[in-house]
Amino acid sequence: MPQFDTPRPPIRWVGGKRRLLPHLTRLMPPTYRDYYEPFLGGGALFWHTRPARAFLSDIVPDITNLYTCLRDEPQSTIDAAYEYYIGHDREWFYAVRDQDPQNLSPIQQAGRYLYLNKASYLGRHRSLKSGKLGLTCGDRLYQLRPETLMACSEALRASKASIMCCDFGVAAALAGPGDFVYLDPPYLHTFAGYSTEGFDASSHRALASAVERMRSRGVSVMLSGADNTDTREIYGNMYTHTVSVRETTAANGDRPMRTEIIATTYITEDTCLH
Ligand SMILES: C[S@@+](CC[C@H](N)C(=O)[O-])C[C@H]1O[C@@H](n2cnc3c(N)ncnc32)[C@H](O)[C@@H]1O
Repeated sequence: MPQFDTPRPPIRWVGGKRRLLPHLTRLMPPTYRDYYEPFLGGGALFWHTRPARAFLSDIVPDITNLYTCLRDEPQSTIDAAYEYYIGHDREWFYAVRDQDPQNLSPIQQAGRYLYLNKASYLGRHRSLKSGKLGLTCGDRLYQLRPETLMACSEALRASKASIMCCDFGVAAALAGPGDFVYLDPPYLHTFAGYSTEGFDASSHRALASAVERMRSRGVSVMLSGADNTDTREIYGNMYTHTVSVRETTAANGDRPMRTEIIATTYITEDTCLH
């Protein structure tokens, strides 16, 4: 286990993997060269793992710009977010959401995105074909937590994090022998509206082909996915581990367990070979 406190993810992110961390850390390879996370989102595993050298990427530019600004200029990013916090009410939220970010500096864009994330309903990022954000105003404004943002900045610098906005295919092609790649794509048959392209079964098949190419280059790959027949079939060449997690929300306050899968290209102590 790491010897430091794990920073909380700096943003709220649908599909975040904090609940899965005990399973993910158990099934990771014990040693590896560089760490890659091409579906970064809230980056729960990265903050927990704190690898020596990390290549982090996502297709959503608001995310990668935010992490780049946090890495390089954390205090300015926090100050920029507070500029947006000051005016908060529903009307302000929608005015900020509908701003054209092209007219803002990268730091202002990061501050704007932090504010929108903390004020929106479930922090649910949705990119619309119009180029705008499909966020809706939530019923509370979550605190900014500067100490968390500073800890994340420190973690990014300690891991010499290279941060890119790109499709998973670009990032996967960079990984080489001995590297570890954690893949957390949008789950099949669930919410996939992070980007306008979505992520359907054909995207998962393209990802499965990328996994095979990485495996043949000596890369260790771990993937989390929904426990359904299609996902199991698409990633059928990998070793599949079934894990139980508690639902994040439930109408009556009860949070039942459900299963998800974690697939690896390598054998672990938990791998069942039958
Ligand atoms: C399930 S979320 C990842 C959650 C993350 N592991 C966490 O702990 O917060 C999936 C991520 O994939 C990104 N994504 C969707 N399509 C992509 C693509 N084609 N290439 C790269 N990233 C993509 C989304 O923007 C989203 O951040």
